[in-house]
Amino acid sequence: MVYISDLKSHHGKDVTLKGWVINKRSSKGIEFLILRDGTGFVQCIVDEEKIGAEMYETARKLTQESSVELTGKVVKDDRQIGGSELHVTNLNLIHLNDNNFPITNKAHGVEFLMNNRHLWLRSKKQWAIMRVRNSIIYGIHNFFQKQGFMQMDAPIFTGNAVEGTTTLFETDFYDRPAYLTQSGQLYGEAMAMAMGRIYTFGPTFRAEKSKTRRHLSEFWMIEPEMAFFDNEMNMDLIEEFIKSVVKEVTERCKLELEVLDRDFDILGKVVSEKFPRISYDEAVEILNGRKEVNGITSIDLLNKDKKELEEKIVIVKKEIAEREEILEDPNIKQGKKNFVQNKIDTFKNELKDLEEKLSHIPEYLNSAKNFKYGNDFGGADETVLTRMFSLPIMVYNWPKDIKAFYMKRAEDNDNLVKGVDVLAPEGFGEIVGGSERETDLEVLLDRIHGHNLPEEVFDWYLDLRKYGSVPHSGFGLGLERFVGWITNTKHIRETIPFPRMYGRLNP
Ligand code: 4AD
Ligand code: MG
Repeated sequence: MVYISDLKSHHGKDVTLKGWVINKRSSKGIEFLILRDGTGFVQCIVDEEKIGAEMYETARKLTQESSVELTGKVVKDDRQIGGSELHVTNLNLIHLNDNNFPITNKAHGVEFLMNNRHLWLRSKKQWAIMRVRNSIIYGIHNFFQKQGFMQMDAPIFTGNAVEGTTTLFETDFYDRPAYLTQSGQLYGEAMAMAMGRIYTFGPTFRAEKSKTRRHLSEFWMIEPEMAFFDNEMNMDLIEEFIKSVVKEVTERCKLELEVLDRDFDILGKVVSEKFPRISYDEAVEILNGRKEVNGITSIDLLNKDKKELEEKIVIVKKEIAEREEILEDPNIKQGKKNFVQNKIDTFKNELKDLEEKLSHIPEYLNSAKNFKYGNDFGGADETVLTRMFSLPIMVYNWPKDIKAFYMKRAEDNDNLVKGVDVLAPEGFGEIVGGSERETDLEVLLDRIHGHNLPEEVFDWYLDLRKYGSVPHSGFGLGLERFVGWITNTKHIRETIPFPRMYGRLNP
């Protein structure tokens, strides 16, 4: 059997494809079918004269999501998505879908799509996101395996919290309380003391009782942990890692990223330019507008964005109005009418985007001006900070009170810890959290008590500081947030096949 993604190597030859019809158009004795088989999309031409009346009749009756086997000649056609077309000589119906497929080309509400996630996954955009997710996973393993890291699996049932006690999912483990893991890190640290450099890649769980575009209850995390690494080396590795995966994905997923309308320039910049590294202190100064980046303060840049958005909105509104006037002509031909209406729809979408962006600016200005030193950055703060650079940024040296107990204190300031967060641009927020780990047993005990964590469950973890304790560091990349950023998908729920989040357990 041949797959659509391989058609390029079959130009001029006869092949058989199996797949589903996603769309169909007819014109005088010819049916144009768009077929998908999971590897791609191809236009298939069914000509009544060539295929005969009976099979042509079958083609004519095909509905969206009917499944077929098509044989025909592969013809090169650069205008087509994928660069090929199939001239059908035989059609074999596998299943005629005689129920209306719930998801059509028209706009559907998110609740409806989420309830039909099992079917929604078949649509083009979801196909592209899932394919990119797959390539990202491949790129991640590739990067670490090539460097000699060992993959390890951390347990899912755990006895202790890692990232605070407020987001624990409690379960019953043979009459004892157990928690679904929030992070494999502590086990990763133990393994790093045995293997040197490791990475975990598994599901993690956080009870987040809020519906945001960035939070899932079940998400996948990649957590490398390296013995003899300080936080500088950690930051170097994070940057190299992100660049490597982005590069690989842009090479392997050209078609998918095109389907998603992803801006390749932005991703190219990520691969080629150095990520700015700024301390938390500097970040606050930049956010507050007390420190310029590239000659401009945050407040001035936001006001500039506001003005530009307002100007663009005026232009787009004018484009729409002009075209609506054209439609008023009673003699307009149907073809032209469709063409103009399509343009109007595109402009209307753009207008919606621009208006939405504009509506956030007051909130951004407010959060920038009023951000208080010592607080954690919220979504709006992260958006403003990354807007200043248009690149992922690494924020290091954080106030200890807003970070986890295991982070190593800074040598020169007892209020700071050597943590690092990577914030993705374009509003995608924190994609990586990491740090150098505290090695001093006394300090660690102090932090455990300070965070009101029960000392007994950390017995084994504290042992790591008793036997050949070494400087070590690591980080965690949230897979879904990363996929969201690379695919430019606003809401994280579309970046995992079956999302689990507050209010969503089905399908
Ligand atoms: O910053 P976090 O909480 O760090 C840790 O878990 C560390 N133990 C990692 C380490 O050093 N080994 O989480 C890491 C990343 C975040 O930056 C974010 O990308 C993602 O995990 N993340 C979530 N993604 C989706 N939904 C949630 N509820 C998430 N919480 C964190
Ligand atoms: Mg974090």
